[in-house]
Amino acid sequence: MNRISLIICGLGNVGREFAGLVVDKAESVTRRFSLAIDVVAIAELGGSLVNDGKALPVADILEHLRTGGSLESLSYWKKGLAGPDLIATTKADVVVETTPTSLKDGEPATSHMNAAMKRGMDIVTANKGPMVLFYTDMTNRAREAGSRIFISAATAAALPTLDVGVLSTAGADVLSFEGILNGTTNFILTRMKESGSTYEAALREAQEMGIAETNPTLDVEGFDTANKCVLIANRIFGMNIGLDDVDRTGITGVTPEDIEKATSEGKVIKLIGQGHLDGGKLVVSAKPAAIEKDHPLASISLSEKAISYDTDTMGRITVSGGKSSPVGAAAALLKDVVHTALLR
Ligand code: HSE
Repeated sequence: MNRISLIICGLGNVGREFAGLVVDKAESVTRRFSLAIDVVAIAELGGSLVNDGKALPVADILEHLRTGGSLESLSYWKKGLAGPDLIATTKADVVVETTPTSLKDGEPATSHMNAAMKRGMDIVTANKGPMVLFYTDMTNRAREAGSRIFISAATAAALPTLDVGVLSTAGADVLSFEGILNGTTNFILTRMKESGSTYEAALREAQEMGIAETNPTLDVEGFDTANKCVLIANRIFGMNIGLDDVDRTGITGVTPEDIEKATSEGKVIKLIGQGHLDGGKLVVSAKPAAIEKDHPLASISLSEKAISYDTDTMGRITVSGGKSSPVGAAAALLKDVVHTALLR
């Protein structure tokens, strides 16, 4: 049996769900993949949890937090031990990054990833910041350091966007992609169309479900969709593009009248992320579009997502589902952690 050890950075919505899944899925992961997973450290704001290099009792820690206990009151808490220092001083196989996305400098995830690379650790990240801002630099340095960076949790998470676009299409060339890549905006547009909700009420609901970004502007102004397009373009199409290369418009300008008009024409408005090759260059956009009712993306409702690839040898491949949710993001992280052991 293989055994791998993790450092988790961030214990917010997704980090907690992930830690919970490591516990809840332990038996299933061992049975299916002959793999045991230990969490040896957790970094949070203001300090870290460590246990002298041994596995932390994650179930007990989560129960302590669930019943109102604080991180600071745990005997494992080392006040002031910041993520990069924790990673520099703790032996582990994989750093799992779940802190909130920053599109300014990618921090704190950039420093966590840099510290992991210095030690040749693999990285599994739900945080899009560093990979959207510094994709080529990060992947080049990771290769030199012997680290691998797994980003499917950052690229529509429970929707297996990259698994399909990289692994399942290895016998084809992917020519274009088109997807609904953001659950929050799809939820808002569905609610506005089908329940007559206001934009504000629908956004609040998405926030209560924990699917909106910490800063929901990232969702509603199309940044999250554009980010995912950047990751798809760079990983699947071998591009070197950034956010500025994506023609981006959010959904804040979509009015109830626009939705009514589209409905009366037999269409539905969706926020579509797409990319197609044009003379070797990938032209990428993230913007609302009124699509026909029989379009493969038209029936994707609420927080569900979908991705459709056009390929040369396998035809069109569309995958849908993969609802945005903290547990879905956590499950995508766990999948990538398992993949660090399976994909050697
Ligand atoms: N806020 C995102 C969404 C989840 O609504 O899909 C993380 O990408």
